[in-house]
Amino acid sequence: MFELQPVSPKNNELDNSYSSLAFQTNARLDVDLARLGELRPFPETAQRLIAMTGSEDYKVADLRQVIENDAILTARTLEIVNSAAYGMRGRCSSITLAIRLLGSNGVRDLAVAIAGMEMYDTADLRARTLRDHNAVVGSIARFMARKRGVPNISDLYTCAVLHDIGQLLLLQLYGEEYGQLVDLGVEENLCQRERDRYEYDHALLAAHMVSKWRIPDPVPTVIALHHDLRRARSLGSEIHHLVAQIRLADELAESFLYHQDDDDEDLIRVVVGGDAAKVLALGEEELTGLWYDIQAVTIQTKYLWAQFDSQ
Ligand SMILES: [Fe+2]
Ligand SMILES: [Fe+2]
Repeated sequence: MFELQPVSPKNNELDNSYSSLAFQTNARLDVDLARLGELRPFPETAQRLIAMTGSEDYKVADLRQVIENDAILTARTLEIVNSAAYGMRGRCSSITLAIRLLGSNGVRDLAVAIAGMEMYDTADLRARTLRDHNAVVGSIARFMARKRGVPNISDLYTCAVLHDIGQLLLLQLYGEEYGQLVDLGVEENLCQRERDRYEYDHALLAAHMVSKWRIPDPVPTVIALHHDLRRARSLGSEIHHLVAQIRLADELAESFLYHQDDDDEDLIRVVVGGDAAKVLALGEEELTGLWYDIQAVTIQTKYLWAQFDSQ
């Protein structure tokens, strides 16, 4: 089990904008993070966009230029913005319009999402399954938040779409050995199996990685805690609610991705009976009303990313 520790100048090697907490590290994690930095550097365009939107005085024209210099990023940004899964009204034909409609954080989110997705080698079935899981959790979390009038959708989307990127990174590091560990059982127990084998779990690895990519708080904290609602609660209501929204989206994604043949009413009861739904005060009637829209979002998201695979 990893521990969250107060920052000290000595052990805080994370981003300076980090909150009052840092994540424990260990020698093995440091070695693996260094190996990953060489294996899969985070795409430069996304890094530039994150840095740019983090500063007060960036210019929209500069932002547009950075995106338009990257043809794949431009095409995919427009495809996602115009997709049914993203839920925007009207068509968006240019990056200028996308920036106007989504704002700087919205554009940063998309860049991060696309960059994160591009790190997956989708020829590998496990990686593709993980990619779909992250993408669907991102879309569902965004959909639920919009429907329920939740503020700060921007951070939520980034957290959700990257929440299990640690599993992808472990797959890159350990290949089939890690694949077999994943195959052994459900995700909740996976964290413990990972800690037993590697001395850290996918949530902690991903939190360190996104910090290295300079994605600001609360994203690293929320990703670190995405399997630990209880600990998230101790960090205040913002982190607690973000983690609860990701847990909820994760449970919903699981219903639609892996339990399509189960009875809908049973699935709804399982989700509303869970801790995340309780934290978010989501009842059976409300979820029933949204159920088929969430299913549609799941299908649209899978279809969208599968299209990118074939391009
Ligand atoms: Fe996870
Ligand atoms: Fe997940």
